[in-house]
Amino acid sequence: FTVPYKISLPEGIRASAVLRIRGLVPHNASRFYVNLLCSEAQDANAALHFNPRMDTSEVVFNSKKQGAWGIEERGHGVPFYRGQPFEVLLITSEDGFKVVVGDSEYHLFRHRMPLASVRLLEVGGDVQLESVRIF
Ligand code: GAL
Repeated sequence: FTVPYKISLPEGIRASAVLRIRGLVPHNASRFYVNLLCSEAQDANAALHFNPRMDTSEVVFNSKKQGAWGIEERGHGVPFYRGQPFEVLLITSEDGFKVVVGDSEYHLFRHRMPLASVRLLEVGGDVQLESVRIF
């Protein structure tokens, strides 16, 4: 897949949906992202911005409203490695997006905007994207 890779979600996503993203972190990667956006517009609101950063060894979560980032959350540790494949599950629930990386629950990002407002899944940045599935 070439990135940024976008999947329209005309009917949004259900609570209890599972978004599965498989890929590989390139050797020279600095950062990549998975966004759940509320429209296809250029500066769309983001219900979730998930941003593994190999350059600064952190994984940042945030939302964006009217062009402004919200308060950042960080996961514990960076379960992504340059040159290594990964699998991420974004599991939607009433409470938030449960993020599973490999075999471990990594972080719960509590909803800041209605799940019903999500219209687009976008994956981009320094990532070799292998597959995206929605269950
Ligand atoms: C900024 C960065 C954005 C986004 C944001 C998340 O510093 O430039 O790309 O990751 O943090 O809070």
